[in-house]
Amino acid sequence: MIENLTEKLTETLSHFGIEGTIGEIFEGPLITDIQFQLTHGTKFSTVANSIKDIARELGVSGIRVAPVVNSTYISFEIPQPQAQTIDFVPILQSEEFRSAKGGLPILIGVDMHGKPVLKDLAKMPHLLVAGTTGSGKSVGLNSFILSLIGKKQPDELKLILVDPKRIEFSMYNNQKYMLCPTVTDMSMAARWLEKLCDEMNARYAVFEKAMVRNIGEYIEKGNKMPYIVCVIDEFADLILFDKNVEKQVQILAQKSRAAGIHLIIATQRPSVDVITGVIKANLPTRLSYKVSSPVDSMTILNMAGAEDLLGRGDSLLLEENGTLTRTLGAYTPNNDIMNLLVPYRCEMSDIDYSGIITGAQIQEQTQEYIAQQEKAKEEALNGAKPQGLWDKMKGWWNKLGKPMQRRVVNIGIAFVMALISSKSGKSKKSAIQNATDAAVKSAKRSVKAQAKQAITKTILDSLNKK
Ligand SMILES: Nc1ncnc2c1ncn2[C@@H]1O[C@H](COP(=O)(O)OP(=O)(O)OP(=O)(O)O)[C@@H](O)[C@H]1O
Ligand SMILES: [Mg+2]
Repeated sequence: MIENLTEKLTETLSHFGIEGTIGEIFEGPLITDIQFQLTHGTKFSTVANSIKDIARELGVSGIRVAPVVNSTYISFEIPQPQAQTIDFVPILQSEEFRSAKGGLPILIGVDMHGKPVLKDLAKMPHLLVAGTTGSGKSVGLNSFILSLIGKKQPDELKLILVDPKRIEFSMYNNQKYMLCPTVTDMSMAARWLEKLCDEMNARYAVFEKAMVRNIGEYIEKGNKMPYIVCVIDEFADLILFDKNVEKQVQILAQKSRAAGIHLIIATQRPSVDVITGVIKANLPTRLSYKVSSPVDSMTILNMAGAEDLLGRGDSLLLEENGTLTRTLGAYTPNNDIMNLLVPYRCEMSDIDYSGIITGAQIQEQTQEYIAQQEKAKEEALNGAKPQGLWDKMKGWWNKLGKPMQRRVVNIGIAFVMALISSKSGKSKKSAIQNATDAAVKSAKRSVKAQAKQAITKTILDSLNKK
């Protein structure tokens, strides 16, 4: 079977004028990896440019070709007729996982030869995940969370899980590992990020006093402080809801490593309005599942290639040092997740916040969130009540966002002031005219100020880059 494939490959390559010798062959769970040494003078780009035609002649789709790191060979990754599913639980129980070192080891999946790929989130120190719908992001996020749970006790690790879809992380509710119930509401998610920034600053103050440089040294001195990992599924929903989130993610990504706070952010839309320059610059470790176009692959990995992945957990991991590894995500059926979580079940009111400096505030916000969720659930079950005019207005007002609200208030104040100060002798009509002019002026001023601010920011940013 393999002999047939290698023979067919060499023959097809020669049709395209590509000559060389076959090297090692590895049969993995997803692909057969055939290593090939090109004859001197044959360019790799010739092979890469003809790969779609080579695949067509071989009668398979989705062949990937890549140079082998530190070697003179290139590797042809040819999909297996039947891809295997990698079970998460046996890896979790394996010696390799048990002996994995590092602050926060997570299982990315297995490499193309079937060997587990374990990476330390504490070193990454954050992870950006992208992939089209159904490509395996949520399955991947679940195995990252479960690897952390498999390695750390509830007093060593706390989780904040953001899930606008409501269904992906609901089974983690009422776990000793949770800092708050799974966050499904986007305005609440933005507030949790603010809280994380507060906690990070508070931790630095504690470290300063204890004369240590990071969480590792602080714990070594016999203190208690859990790592905090915030996992956001569908980041697009959050950043498009509230642009300020970008700033908070930037602050956390730049400074939170030493404080033991880490982010895992996933998005279905790897477009530039979601994975902005700021986000990209601050999250150098990225995992791309199958994406829909080379442009999306460029956005996440800075190179094309992720569009040719096979889906169902097939992914490319780009590390901070620029190495790219193809991995296949491990799958955990819901039943297994439930079984793994059984020992850690508890009531939200029993969560241990010790070692979390802003714990009391977080607990308060948690109570508020639980009450809000219960009210929403009740309303959904009893049928939503018809909204009054006041509620509708409140909804519109909230949708405006803070900067716009400020502008509207300023314009309103200008209108009222002009109305009050217009001379009593004037007709009502001209007083209103005056007030309207003042409001328009105020609106123009606000637009000008905003433009000025944006220009200053662009100039400062470009100077800083230099
Ligand atoms: N590693 C894997 N091994 C086997 N099957 C997988 C794997 N990853 C995903 N799948 C299959 O693909 C389905 C969709 O995966 P998942 O829910 O993770 O997609 P997603 O990328 O989160 O999609 P969406 O953006 O729509 O939420 C899973 O229900 C599962 O059947
Ligand atoms: Mg998903």
